[in-house]
Amino acid sequence: QRDAALAAIAAAADLDELKQARLDHAGDRSPLALANREIGALPPQARKEAGQRIGQARGAVNKALAERSAVLEAEHEERMLATETVDVTLPTTRRRRGSRHPITMQSETIADIFVAMGWEIAEGPMVEAEWLNFDALNLGPDHPARTMQDTFWTEPAENHVVLRTHTSPVQARTMLTRKPPIYVACPGRVFRTDEYDATHSPMFHQVEGLVVDEGITMAHLKGSLDHLAAQLYGEGVTTRFRPSYFPFTEPSAEVDLRCFVCLGDNSEECRTCRGEGWIEWGGCGVVNPRVLIACGIDPEVYSGFAFGFGIDRTFMFRHNLTDLRPLFEGDVRFASAFGTEI
Ligand code: PHE
Repeated sequence: QRDAALAAIAAAADLDELKQARLDHAGDRSPLALANREIGALPPQARKEAGQRIGQARGAVNKALAERSAVLEAEHEERMLATETVDVTLPTTRRRRGSRHPITMQSETIADIFVAMGWEIAEGPMVEAEWLNFDALNLGPDHPARTMQDTFWTEPAENHVVLRTHTSPVQARTMLTRKPPIYVACPGRVFRTDEYDATHSPMFHQVEGLVVDEGITMAHLKGSLDHLAAQLYGEGVTTRFRPSYFPFTEPSAEVDLRCFVCLGDNSEECRTCRGEGWIEWGGCGVVNPRVLIACGIDPEVYSGFAFGFGIDRTFMFRHNLTDLRPLFEGDVRFASAFGTEI
């Protein structure tokens, strides 16, 4: 019995087989256990002798079981380590995280500033009626300034549909659909047939501001733009106006931004403003009464101001970029370089 048990234990090739051997040779129904139970029926002398023999046999079997178990356990462990190793040099299947576009985030930061001022955000379509892009804004068919912005026309021409050349048609859309007081900002994409280079792109982004209320003057315009400049570029950054012309505003001005790098001090060396002390930012003016009339608003009661500036330019100034093309070329490494705070 004992030899059969030891042979079976030695032959067990894995932990499952050893478990079976344990049941067969050391379990309650094993021959040794049965023999142990029969000892009681033997005469005293034989009982003692048989007891010793069976006891030794069981001891030997249990010892063999323990040893074999230790060996198989170790083998099992080793096999697990070998088969479950992770090769950290293998290529991964994990995908790189994308990133929100810096211009999307810049637009939102700008919108947030307007919302904090109590203004609303309005949007209009990028494919726009010629009438809203031009005529409603005092840019009639024969107006010489129509060619100021090089326009993408859609076919067929008799539909009179363009890709909007500025966000100003959203001014007209807003005035046509709502009554003053109006305080809106309109961010969005605009299109012009410009050659693509470091400072021009046929698609870019603007934000339009429009206020129509009683007693609105150029002073309100200046104050609003100064506030915006300080919010975007830092405390103390102000704006200046240079006389200009836009058909939809009268008077009109170009807005310059105080150079937020040198603040106009060391203007000889500043690379951002090239020693000018000022940076061109956008256009603005008091809403032309002709535009109010075209949009059904009484210029005897209401007046307003409007401005427009480039979101891409704003972003480039703030991050000291000299080439706008990476903004439009979709390389995720560029986008993710700016993180989530713009
Ligand atoms: N729409 C003008 C442009 O694209 C900017 C502007 C907006 C000027 C509002 C005056 C008032 O250049």
